[in-house]
Amino acid sequence: MQWEIKATARLNEDETAALKALSAAVYPPKPGAPKNPSPIKWARPQWSILLWDVDSQLVSYVGALTRLGFCDNQEILIGGIGGVKTHPAQRGKGYAKAGIQRATDFLRRELGVDFSLLVCRAALMTYYQRLGWSAFAGDALVRQNGEKTIFTWNEVMLIPARKALPACRVLDLCGLPW
Ligand SMILES: CC(C)(COP(=O)(O)OP(=O)(O)OC[C@H]1O[C@@H](n2cnc3c(N)ncnc32)[C@H](O)[C@@H]1OP(=O)(O)O)[C@@H](O)C(=O)NCCC(=O)NCCS
Repeated sequence: MQWEIKATARLNEDETAALKALSAAVYPPKPGAPKNPSPIKWARPQWSILLWDVDSQLVSYVGALTRLGFCDNQEILIGGIGGVKTHPAQRGKGYAKAGIQRATDFLRRELGVDFSLLVCRAALMTYYQRLGWSAFAGDALVRQNGEKTIFTWNEVMLIPARKALPACRVLDLCGLPW
């Protein structure tokens, strides 16, 4: 396996095309379905973790970003993980695990985040728990259509980085979710 971390804005044409093909394989377009069926507006990752197999095919992807937010009233630097996906034919080989671990290491060591946050379906919580993540029991606030709202669409999970996991009741992500 080969991997690299690149600024998303600096992905070249080949990398952009490979990511588009991977996304289409993971989320095949359904005939007649609207192009973007999700009503939720998501933040674009600033960083892309790309994982390639021995044949130089992009098999897995993890997006990452940083966000200044508030833990109750205390300002904190949050690392964000999102857009995790592995090609259906390459699952169960540890690609996503490797990408997530590289992304959280990068956010902690290079970008100095206090902790990292991701959102996932309830079915994936045990997977992330095995990788060291814990469910956040408080409310996460996000922006949608210009308004602040409690994030209720998915589960919110955290992993410590420079600081211990926050004990706050409200985590304000100060922007779109990821
Ligand atoms: C979730 C996903 C990224 C895992 O990728 P992967 O490279 O196969 O992950 P790993 O090899 O590190 O780990 C595989 C584990 O994922 C877990 N997993 C994958 N899909 C799952 C699901 N739908 N429900 C519960 N667990 C799941 C399993 O525990 C599996 O364990 P196993 O190897 O013992 O079977 C991949 O299944 C995928 O792309 N799914 C569609 C997109 C998605 O749901 N992304 C997650 C957004 S938070």
